[in-house]
Amino acid sequence: MCGSAAHSLFGIISCMAKLHLGVLGSGAGSNMQSIVDAIAADKLDADIRIVLADVPEAKILDRAKRHNIRCEYLDCAPWKTKLEGPAEDRCIDILKSAGVDTVVLAGFMRIVKPKLLAAFPDRVLNIHPALLPAFPGIHSWKQALDYGCKVAGVTVHFVDAGTDSGPIIVQKAVPILEDDTPETLHARIQVQEHIAYPEALGIIASGDYRIEGRRVRIGG
Ligand code: GRF
Repeated sequence: MCGSAAHSLFGIISCMAKLHLGVLGSGAGSNMQSIVDAIAADKLDADIRIVLADVPEAKILDRAKRHNIRCEYLDCAPWKTKLEGPAEDRCIDILKSAGVDTVVLAGFMRIVKPKLLAAFPDRVLNIHPALLPAFPGIHSWKQALDYGCKVAGVTVHFVDAGTDSGPIIVQKAVPILEDDTPETLHARIQVQEHIAYPEALGIIASGDYRIEGRRVRIGG
């Protein structure tokens, strides 16, 4: 079974499998771009089956079109901050019929609910611009700066029923500089995001990990 190592007479073998990704976003899509680039460079064994955005003019849709990736606007009304009800059902249908096995939240500005998580168990990932569990929620780089932190960062994690609370797959630290503004800090965090997301997906594709409670054990 992928997602946990398989046992054989020769010890533990990993279950490597090409990932079929469905990307959900609301904004610029730079994280999706980093995944596209990692796939093109043969650094990630995956394809992006579909990109869905809850904002009709989101740049992530333009990027997907430029790369000939199927994409659609997902109308999530009447909800403004969550994916629930008919839109959630439609989202699951679209992802499943596109053959998606792993859902990538890449700047998707909505809370996903248990029905989507149940449709893709342990296969919904999110990227958050902070070293969780510090600073969940929005504008977390600004929260870190305002708090006086010396280090900020990025976290890729499995999504669970909470907000920014699932088991952590990859984290990258980003030093906060004396003259940082929210904009300069966020720009440096994004550089690390674009390394962290392909890295985390590479771990999932390798199958060489297991989830033990809160811990994601990688390798052996
Ligand atoms: C990123 O900073 C991500 O961490 C946060 O939203 C932003 C999305 O950026 N969740 P992009 O749309 O991938 O460029």
